[in-house]
Amino acid sequence: MDKSRTSDSAIKKAADLLKQGYLVAFPTETVYGLGADASNDQALARLYAAKGRPGDHPVIVHLSDMAKITQWAIDIPDEAYKLAETFVPGPLTFILKRARHVSDRVTGGQNTVGLRIPSHPIALDLLREFGGGVAAPSANKFGKLSPTCAVDVADSFGDEVSMVLDGGPCDVGIESTIVDLTGAVARILRPGMITKSALQSVLGIEVLEPAGKERQSPDNSVRVPGGLPSHYAPNTPLQIVTSEELGRFAHGPRPKMAVLSFQPMPPGYESKLWISLPRDPAQYARQLYSSLRLLDSHQATNILIEAVPGEPDWTGIRDRISRAAQR
Ligand code: TXA
Ligand code: MG
Repeated sequence: MDKSRTSDSAIKKAADLLKQGYLVAFPTETVYGLGADASNDQALARLYAAKGRPGDHPVIVHLSDMAKITQWAIDIPDEAYKLAETFVPGPLTFILKRARHVSDRVTGGQNTVGLRIPSHPIALDLLREFGGGVAAPSANKFGKLSPTCAVDVADSFGDEVSMVLDGGPCDVGIESTIVDLTGAVARILRPGMITKSALQSVLGIEVLEPAGKERQSPDNSVRVPGGLPSHYAPNTPLQIVTSEELGRFAHGPRPKMAVLSFQPMPPGYESKLWISLPRDPAQYARQLYSSLRLLDSHQATNILIEAVPGEPDWTGIRDRISRAAQR
C-alpha cells in the first residue's frame, strides 16, 4: 500500500488507480472514505469484498460539484438545490431517484441513489482529477468504527487498499447527515452535524426525522446499515451513564474501566484510561471516534460514556453513542 501525503502527483496517481478499478482511501471532512469507481462493477465488487459488507447495502457516490448530480439522479427536486446553496460542498448526503445507468451495486438494488459533494480539499482534488463518481463508504470493515485519520485506515486494510491519501485528522468526525428527498416530505435517514433545524431553516418547511425505533428496524425499501443498532460498535462493552452515576463509579478504584467524560478524572480515581472531551458538540464529534478507538484498545472490561446533552446540536453524536452501546 502506498501512503502518501498529498501532492499533485499523489492525486494524479490516486485518480489513475481509481480508473484502473483499484481502491483508494481518501480523507473527507466527516470520516475517511474507501473509494472505488462508481461506474465500474468490478471495482465495486472489490470494494464490497474489502469492506466485508453485504452486497445489498447501498453506497454513497461522491462527486466534485452539484452540476454532476444530473448524471446520477433524475427528477431532482428544488430542495436539493436550495440545500446545496448552504451545505454543498459539505457533510450532507442527498438521497435522490437514481438515473437508469446507476449500478445496482451502488444502489443496493433500490431505485434511489445517495450523492454527496465533500468539502475536504483533498477529496475535491481527487474527485476533480478523476472526473466521475466515486463510491465511498466509510473506510472501516463492516460493523467497525469509522476512521478519522489515515493510520486507522491503513491498520484495518493493509494491502487490500492500493493507496491511502493522508489528509490528517477529519474536521467533522462523524458521518454526513443523510436526507431523503424522494418523498413528499424531506426526511433525515441518518443524523449528522448538519441538524434538522439547520435543514428546516434553509428549506422553510418541516423535515422529518426517523424515530429511534424506525432506524433500528429500517423498512426494506430503504436500507441503512447505519440504521442497524450495533453498526458503530467498538469491541469493548460500552455503557452510557449519567454524570451522577459516573460520580458514584468514581468512588473507589475501578482500574478495569475506560471512561469518556466531560469531567477531568477525579483525584484518587484509577482507571485504564480516562478521556475528557469538551462540552461543545463540534469539538466532541471531531474527537469521538478516535477517543472510542483509544478506549477500545486498552483491554478495559467496560467503556463508560458520560451521557451527552439532549439538545438538537448533539443528535448525531447521541445517535452514534447509543448505537455503540447496543450490541
Ligand atoms: O460522511 C459520510 O457519509 C461518509 C464519507 C466517506 O463520505 N460515508 C459514509 O458511507 O458514511 P457509509 O457507506 O459508511 O454509509 C452510507 C450510508 C449507509 O447507511 C447507506 O445505507 C446509506 O448511506 N445510503 C447510501 N445510499 C442510499 C440510498 N440510495 N438509500 C438509502 N440509504 C442510502
Ligand atoms: Mg459506514
